[in-house]
Amino acid sequence: MEWGMKNRLSRLIQKDGKALFLPIDHGYFQGPTHGLEHPEETIKPIYQYADAIMLTRGVLRNCIDPAIEKPIIMRVSGAVSVVGEDLAAESIVTSIQEILRLNASAVSMSVFVGTKYENKSLSNLAKLVDECEEFGIPVMAVSAVGKELEKREARYLALAARISAEIGARVVKTYYCKEHFEKVVDGCPVPVVIAGGPKTETQREVFDFVYDGLQKGAIGVNLGRNIWQTQYPVASIKAIRAIIHEGYTPQEAEDLYNQVIAGKT
Ligand code: 5RP
Repeated sequence: MEWGMKNRLSRLIQKDGKALFLPIDHGYFQGPTHGLEHPEETIKPIYQYADAIMLTRGVLRNCIDPAIEKPIIMRVSGAVSVVGEDLAAESIVTSIQEILRLNASAVSMSVFVGTKYENKSLSNLAKLVDECEEFGIPVMAVSAVGKELEKREARYLALAARISAEIGARVVKTYYCKEHFEKVVDGCPVPVVIAGGPKTETQREVFDFVYDGLQKGAIGVNLGRNIWQTQYPVASIKAIRAIIHEGYTPQEAEDLYNQVIAGKT
C-alpha cells in the first residue's frame, strides 16, 4: 500500500484499530432533515469525540471551519431525493479534482445491491475506486437499503459488503443485524463499520448493537441519527466512543451516558 493511502487510513482508523465516524450527510437526499437544519450547530458540541466526519462538499464548504482538525470523509454520490422515483439511481456528483481540492481523507458512496440500479451503482463504485486509488484516497462503500429496511439481514448484508470489497472499497459501511452479523464481517476482507439507521426507541439499544457488532468483528461505527437526533447527543457520542475505544460494555456505557446527562462527568 502506498504511503498516502496508509496515511489517510491511519487518520481514520485509530491506533487501536477502531473508528468512530460521524455522518452528517443525510441532507444529500433528505434535505434539511430533523437535527441537521444547521449542520455546524449540530456538530459543534460532538465532533471532538469523533474520529472523522462524513459529509458532502456543500456542507463542508459552507458550514465547516477549514481549520477543523478532524479528517473528512466526503460523500460523493447523490443526485436523488426522498421524493424522487428511486433512491438507488444515484450518480457520482463530485470530481476527483474537487475531492483533492477539499483535502478529503476518504470518500464514500452508496451501493445498491439487488436493485434495478445495481449495475449502475457498482460501476460507479469501480470508477470511483480507480480514480481515488490513483491519488491514494480510500473509498468507503455504504451498503444502502433505501426504504427497504427489511433488507437488513445477514445474507443480504454479507453479499453487498463482499461485492463492495471485491470492487475495491477500502472500508465498508453496513447495517447491523442481530442474527449472524459475524458472517457479514467474516466474508468481507476489508474493515467493516456499522451504521445506526433510524433513531431507536432507547439509547440502550444503540449501545447493545454497537457492542455486539464490535464483538463480532466490526471495527467501529459510521453512526449519525442515533447521536445527533437524540435528546443528549454529547452523552450519546461519549458512551458510544467508550464502547469503541475503551471496551465499555453496554451497561458501563449506559452508566456513563446517565452520568454525562447528570453533569457528573
Ligand atoms: C445516509 C448515510 C449515513 O451516513 C449512514 O446511513 C449512517 O447514518 P445513520 O447512523 O443515521 O444511519 O449514508 O445518507
